[in-house]
Amino acid sequence: MNKRVVVTGGAGYIGSHTVVELVKAGYTPVILDDFSNSTKEVLSGLKAILGFEPALEEVDCSSRTELLQAFDRIAAEGTIDGIIHFAAFKAVGESTQRPLKYYANNIASTVHILEASETHNVSNLVFSSSCTVYGQPDTIPVDEEAPVKGAESPYGYTKQVCERIITDFVASGSPLKAALLRYFNPIGAHPSSHIGELPLGHPNNLVPYLTQAAAKLRDPLTVFGSDYPTPDGTCIRDYIHVMDLANAHVSALHWLSEQENACEAFNLGTGHGNSVLEVIQAFEQATGVPVPHNIGARRPGDITAIFAEASKARHELSWTCKYSLEDALRDAWNWQCTLID
Ligand code: UFG
Repeated sequence: MNKRVVVTGGAGYIGSHTVVELVKAGYTPVILDDFSNSTKEVLSGLKAILGFEPALEEVDCSSRTELLQAFDRIAAEGTIDGIIHFAAFKAVGESTQRPLKYYANNIASTVHILEASETHNVSNLVFSSSCTVYGQPDTIPVDEEAPVKGAESPYGYTKQVCERIITDFVASGSPLKAALLRYFNPIGAHPSSHIGELPLGHPNNLVPYLTQAAAKLRDPLTVFGSDYPTPDGTCIRDYIHVMDLANAHVSALHWLSEQENACEAFNLGTGHGNSVLEVIQAFEQATGVPVPHNIGARRPGDITAIFAEASKARHELSWTCKYSLEDALRDAWNWQCTLID
């Protein structure tokens, strides 16, 4: 029988792509999602790719009762081999306006997931974390030993706190093993264009805004600052194709299954940084579509440059990135085109 994996936030951007990769690798995912930041169309997209709709429990993971009852139902059908915990709010800006929304949801959900893992003897947890835990690192590329700096936003603080909660829980003697995956900047979409990033409302992140500006659905893209101490003056990030990121979750589950005790953090990035202007240029080259853009002021809170030292994940998880920046931007554009149709 296939190994069953609960995927909280499995209808979200990274979650849905991970569901596809899990099925491809022979796992049976069970999605837990309340669609607070996604839509049910994701399920049709998954069906188009997989040929079936994955199992779904529509629950709010921050509700202890709802979550524990959902786990009871899932466990009644057989062993739960692992949990991948994506479900969380993730808008950095909003988190500064509504910190309690972020603290209540992101932290409570994680605590409840750990409780459920204990009740149902689940021994493998993959946690969705972020390179935001490093703040502005002293040296780049940044590796997993870099100090966790004071968080730049309530959102970032929830990732730091949840990593700590999981670490403390594992250290308390729980049989749970955990992989804390620190994502850099996920972009792109499934190459089939059946699923992708679906920002509800005004996109805050670079690539969803860029594709909407290129499609003339938005005003030209504003490049936030061109006076940073980088070669072209714009900020540098490590953009990773969402399919490579999704695949790393499967590798992490496999790695966990071979460990006796573990609570380890892994950077998930390509190891290369690109500036905002380089992303615009790469998009135009990959698609032939111009990106209307202008240079604006810096966005408060942005760090100058960050990219990953990702060799730990490469070696220990036996994982590598297969897609280029151009592949990711082409897939993001093809996905955007399906949204216009
Ligand atoms: N940018 C623009 N114009 C835009 C949007 C973004 O120039 O309209 C620039 C930003 O200034 C930044 C780069 O594009 O230099 C990337 O910005 P994103 O908002 O796409 O991504 P961030 O690196 O700011 O944030 C991402 C995740 C967060 C996470 C953070 C960790 O979205 O969840 O990385 O560093 F916390």
